[in-house]
Amino acid sequence: MVTKPLLRVLNGARADRPPTWLMRQAGRYLPEYRALRAERGGFLALATDPIAATEVTLQPIRRFGFDGAILFSDILMVPWALGQELTFGAGEGPRLAPALVDAALTALTREPARLDPVYATVRGVAESLPAETTFLGFAGSPWTVATYMVAGQGSRDQEVTRRFAYADPAAFGAIVDAIVAMTIDYLARQIGNGVEAVQIFDSWAGSLSPEQFERWVIAPNRAIVDGVRARCPGVPIIGFPKGAGGKLAAYAAGTAVDALGLDETVDPHWADAVLPPELPVQGNLDPLALLTGGAALDAGIDRVLAAFPERPHVFNLGHGIGQHTPIPHVEHLLQRVRG
Ligand code: CP3
Repeated sequence: MVTKPLLRVLNGARADRPPTWLMRQAGRYLPEYRALRAERGGFLALATDPIAATEVTLQPIRRFGFDGAILFSDILMVPWALGQELTFGAGEGPRLAPALVDAALTALTREPARLDPVYATVRGVAESLPAETTFLGFAGSPWTVATYMVAGQGSRDQEVTRRFAYADPAAFGAIVDAIVAMTIDYLARQIGNGVEAVQIFDSWAGSLSPEQFERWVIAPNRAIVDGVRARCPGVPIIGFPKGAGGKLAAYAAGTAVDALGLDETVDPHWADAVLPPELPVQGNLDPLALLTGGAALDAGIDRVLAAFPERPHVFNLGHGIGQHTPIPHVEHLLQRVRG
């Protein structure tokens, strides 16, 4: 029988007080993270050192006692394993080379062993987590990952990749298929090594027209859900299509995810009314309300808490926690949610 509060809710049970974790909870708003990162000289050095990455995964659990621990890694580890070079320069976003807008996918040499340190981290965390804490793995969704692979970096409105997908759907489809295959294996091996649920982050799902959303968000995510379920039945899969808005119900039905992450722009009462009543949801406090604190934070928390009177609900933010978020605001959030 499942007794961990977060895992129970992801399996469809209702809790009086929602279990809570925060997207990007392992990271730069924590002084202990910044200290370790400075010592190790950068993100990739940390993420590929299983002892350091285990420590970073556990830091927010030790400090706050969240109900979920999310693996410390990045969605861009999959492009790295597909053969692109990955760098996280100081003060700029991540870079992938060669960008697939200029180079063919077939020019890349697959490097799946680059993911081995991540599986070692998973084993390290699984051994040391408190008994009540659920261990979450993750990957990026093919669309979001492809936007970085094609442009070689983050881009405004994902314009380069959206144009590429229209201009050469066969070449773009081959990139998406490669990401799907690697992601199924990556998530199944995270699970095989000890994670108990997984989340698929689709940060840029909001930039696509409805037909492109069907083709590049729903279909590939369905393939991942089917592939992971075939290898690891019974492990909850959370989909987080940020910005999907009015397409959320189509996403939930089309991908068959077990739980749905809502971003902060979604009215939770509307979501509760339009989504299948049994579907667990996660979210969706505005990260800027958490950063601001005070009355804005309390009102935001109460609004989210009131929105799902019957539904399985995991309390979370609508997107990642901001790096300038004061620690006392996080402590306050947990006190208020737990009552
Ligand atoms: O705490 C956690 O949630 C676990 C670890 C995690 C990271 N990245 C660590 C990280 C997770 C789940 C991610 C997901 C991720 N990475 C997404 C999807 C979610 C989202 O926020 O939209 C995306 C788009 C990325 C790609 C990425 N990684 C970017 C654009 C950047 C630079 C800008 C930024 O947000 O920091 C990263 C770097 C990164 N990934 C850091 C961390 C802790 C910061 C590295 C550092 O400077 O120390």
